[in-house]
Amino acid sequence: MQWILSLLMFLLSGLIVSASTAWTSEEPIDCQYARLGEARVVLTCPVPEGGSRVAWKNHTTSETVLNGVQKDGSLVLQNASLAQEGEYSCQDASTGQTLRRIHLRMGYPPEKPSIHCRSISYPVVNCSWTLATDTLLPTSFFASYSFPWRHRHGLTGDVHQCKQAVAGSHSCSLTVLQMFSTDPYMLNVTAVNPLGTASGFFLVFLDQIIQPDPPENVTVSPIQGKKKTLHVQWKAPSSWLYPEYFPLQYIIRYSRDGSRLNRTTRPIEQTSFTLTGIRSGVTYHIQVAAKDFLDNGEYSAWSLPASGASWEPE
Ligand SMILES: *[C@@H]1O[C@H](CO)[C@@H](O)[C@H](O)[C@H]1NC(C)=O
Ligand SMILES: *[C@@H]1O[C@H](CO)[C@@H](O)[C@H](O)[C@H]1NC(C)=O
Ligand SMILES: *[C@@H]1O[C@H](CO)[C@@H](O)[C@H](O)[C@H]1NC(C)=O
Ligand SMILES: *[C@@H]1O[C@H](CO)[C@@H](O)[C@H](O)[C@H]1NC(C)=O
Ligand SMILES: *[C@@H]1O[C@H](CO)[C@@H](O)[C@H](O)[C@H]1NC(C)=O
Repeated sequence: MQWILSLLMFLLSGLIVSASTAWTSEEPIDCQYARLGEARVVLTCPVPEGGSRVAWKNHTTSETVLNGVQKDGSLVLQNASLAQEGEYSCQDASTGQTLRRIHLRMGYPPEKPSIHCRSISYPVVNCSWTLATDTLLPTSFFASYSFPWRHRHGLTGDVHQCKQAVAGSHSCSLTVLQMFSTDPYMLNVTAVNPLGTASGFFLVFLDQIIQPDPPENVTVSPIQGKKKTLHVQWKAPSSWLYPEYFPLQYIIRYSRDGSRLNRTTRPIEQTSFTLTGIRSGVTYHIQVAAKDFLDNGEYSAWSLPASGASWEPE
């Protein structure tokens, strides 16, 4: 990864990548990148010794470029715009020999990625990011995280790669090993394209970003012989990886059919609950939400509703 970055740094400083050093009449095409709006973009031409006259052609418009050709054979484009993107070539005007072909691409250097992290289960944190402005150019992302506060205490502040499902994609996932530390991990997402690099940072406080998925398989059933009661049962969200080590607490929200009013119970740690004092012969709609039992982070979204009515004597 270090060499990729070095290479991209080189692109940034030189703005020009040679696709290859070999030369044939058809190939290669050099790629050159320029920032949209740049006042002067210079396309250079390797004029042979003796300094023959050079002609520039824009292959996208199939026109010979008359404005901006300099004495040294280079071409200066003013006020870079998308309309100037495309393939250019310079030719020896006397022999017609192509001296260089350039593919000019316009865009922007990346801005700092804006990062958001969430955990649906200890100890895994998923982060994703966006760029406020489309760079219009191929842009890669490198994501790493460290525990910089360990550094401060003289211990090793190892830098780990934040695993991206697809290399260069807009998300990654990391595993927090120092789970009960009050010091956060620091995620560094660096966006790189031929015009520049920019890094964004996110402090991962696991106890703030933990939010389970909603409970699953909520069922509601009458209790034989008991009026005005309903038994509610559910499962911890299957994405919650270690329920035995990290229990969840639950709240239950219920409402009478046809009513817009809800009631919500106090948090409980079991995965079942008996609702009492409800109306006879009326259907109730019930949902459950989950949260880390230490009250860290946020409640999940509400589960899918389940419905039922209490037992009634014949
Ligand atoms: C480029 O932009 C400047 C400032 O906006 C303007 O004065 C100039 O005429 C433009 N040049 C061309 C070739 O469009
Ligand atoms: C993290 O993201 C991956 C891939 O999108 C997903 O499979 C996984 O369930 C997520 N895990 C957590 C804990 O957020
Ligand atoms: C962030 O990551 C980039 C690329 O991996 C690196 O060059 C940069 O130094 C890092 N920044 C910090 C503050 O760690
Ligand atoms: C919920 O029920 C479905 C279908 O019976 C099952 O596949 C799934 O594993 C259950 N979820 C949990 C968390 O047990
Ligand atoms: C509770 O009220 C909200 C709106 O306030 C509604 O969206 C939801 O469906 C209701 N829940 C139940 C279980 O009726």
